[in-house]
Amino acid sequence: MADRLPLIAANWKMFKRIDEAVVFIGALHHEVGRPTDREVVIAPPFTALAAVSAAMRDTAFKLAAQNFHYEEKGAFTGEISGVMLKEVDCEYVILGHSERRHVFGEEDELIRKKVAAAFRYGFTPIFCVGEKLEKREEGKTFEVVGKQLKQGLEGLSAEQAAQVVVAYEPVWAIGTGKTATPEQAQEVHAFIRECYSSLFDIGVANRVRIVYGGSVKPDNVDTLMAQPDIDGMLVGGASLEVASFKRIVQFQ
Ligand code: PGA
Repeated sequence: MADRLPLIAANWKMFKRIDEAVVFIGALHHEVGRPTDREVVIAPPFTALAAVSAAMRDTAFKLAAQNFHYEEKGAFTGEISGVMLKEVDCEYVILGHSERRHVFGEEDELIRKKVAAAFRYGFTPIFCVGEKLEKREEGKTFEVVGKQLKQGLEGLSAEQAAQVVVAYEPVWAIGTGKTATPEQAQEVHAFIRECYSSLFDIGVANRVRIVYGGSVKPDNVDTLMAQPDIDGMLVGGASLEVASFKRIVQFQ
């Protein structure tokens, strides 16, 4: 079994002004130092990327964008390109988040283009998949997640696919306080790894990191992380306070 470095990512969504973001980085670094056995990624809003990048320079944290456009430049009002994200030393980009899919109408084909484009700029995509409550209740979780995976990863080489971080985020668990149980999450993570095995091969499936997101909190992180196919966390609400995010980073 391949060694997979756990990844804990903060998705700040549309929260934090620049000054708040910079203070957070200093405080978190003070609390957690430079962990070497886990990766810590922070995704601030676009306006804070440059300042957070500078604040992170002497830390082990890595910078993520919450979205980007697959074209390098052009008449795309309101969009940000990979070239622009490279200027601020972004290393990761969150793609296909359920809020992008369901609030802003992003579809699998657009997300596929973004995942492919991430590799053109050397970014690691944090590629999100997850079912809505009604699909889970209809017993269609695997069908939905399998389709999102297949379409989003289409065209990638095996090596690129191994580098993707897949985030399983059941839509019904995001921002609702309703976390998937460790067993529910593990079941879907194991399914995602099986899909990887059939789309690519077992070696790629063993290397890919699959993180969980959806109401991750200090009091549920340890049991989630204890599951064999859960390799990290994508954290929204609980990443906004240093104390709670620190506890999640320091999962046991
Ligand atoms: P939450 O958000 O932790 O607030 O549920 C997770 C996410 O949307 O990535």
